[in-house]
Amino acid sequence: MTSSASATAPLPITDARQTSRSAPQSGSLIEAFLTVRGETERRAALLSPEDQVIQSMPDASPAKWHRAHTTWFFEQFVLGQHCRAYTPFHADYAFLFNSYYVSAGPRHTRGERGLITRPGVADIAAYRRHVDAAMVDFLGSADAATLADIAPLVEVGLNHEQQHQELMLTDILHAFAQNPIAPAYDPSWTFPTPTGAGEEWVSLPEGIHTVGHAGDGYHFDNERPVHRALVGPVKLARNLVTNADWVAFMADGGYATATLWLMDGFAAASREGWQAPGHWYKVEGEWRIMTLGGLKPVDPNAPVCHVSYYEADAFARWSGRHLPTEMEWEVAARGHQLNDAFGIVWQWTRSAYSPYPGYRAIEGALGEYNGKFMVNQLVLRGSSLATPAGHSRVTYRNFFYPHHRWQFTGLRLADYA
Ligand SMILES: [Fe+2]
Repeated sequence: MTSSASATAPLPITDARQTSRSAPQSGSLIEAFLTVRGETERRAALLSPEDQVIQSMPDASPAKWHRAHTTWFFEQFVLGQHCRAYTPFHADYAFLFNSYYVSAGPRHTRGERGLITRPGVADIAAYRRHVDAAMVDFLGSADAATLADIAPLVEVGLNHEQQHQELMLTDILHAFAQNPIAPAYDPSWTFPTPTGAGEEWVSLPEGIHTVGHAGDGYHFDNERPVHRALVGPVKLARNLVTNADWVAFMADGGYATATLWLMDGFAAASREGWQAPGHWYKVEGEWRIMTLGGLKPVDPNAPVCHVSYYEADAFARWSGRHLPTEMEWEVAARGHQLNDAFGIVWQWTRSAYSPYPGYRAIEGALGEYNGKFMVNQLVLRGSSLATPAGHSRVTYRNFFYPHHRWQFTGLRLADYA
């Protein structure tokens, strides 16, 4: 893929909780379905069967598993529950490819996905074709009432698959980064160019703002309820923190200065031996970074990538500044005041991933999608170079644990002076 990566168009999708909708059209649903499913295969097409089996750490999953799990999602939540004529592709696949849905039954251990050589890549391709054909048949023949019932589930399934499209790239990059010959996922890939225009700081005066997702457009349940938040006064950096900024932090002993770090963060940095962002390697005295295009020189002007929350927090303290809250980020991004809010790196905020006031997870198994993860993680805003087109929005709440850094994660600063 290239930096302009994805071929998927914005999905003609609506509110998964379906309150005020005109009747969905089967044609547009089928088109959206095939577009998203095709993008997964396009991303997988650059990987060999061997590439698709590897699991380089428990947090990363094999590409083959991503392809199968996203397929299981449609089999489990759409076909299995709404299409009487559907026959599951294989009796073992629900166990192998359920991720974390307790309500959907027992499942294989997450950290052992890389031990599954069979079913093989060809079997998974056949599984995808089986489910794709069944979905197209079902959507094409469903009456209006059935379509109205299942359209929200299909939309969740497509947005879910887009999330896994990003994970396919972060996970294979982590695997390739363990390989001494540093394979390129796509030799033609280049890092996106940052914008870098405008004043350095965006000032947000004190004000009460409406935040969260309003309207009928697609969103995950964690973006609701819409509510009001007091924001400011604060200044947000218009630009992302760069590699040059990060090298200055490193040169000033940032990784070795305990007083800059949260205690858990310094423990993680010491335990993991962090001396630079993830995927950075010193080659003949020069820092290089493992990218989707292979091992490249560190570009000082590019946004820093593959830093954990702990590192972002230490950097902010070293710089005499802070990380923004997710609400500050949302207000500034809504006003189109942030450069590269989307499309390069997810940006750590200092907001805990917790429910918005009055939030309740949706009923049923899909209630396990977001709500049960609302503790001990931090919110990231924006999107990254690996996020499929049409998947990001200003209210989107991504979340990871504070030590995680294999995703395309960076930061921008906030200043309260
Ligand atoms: Fe999933």
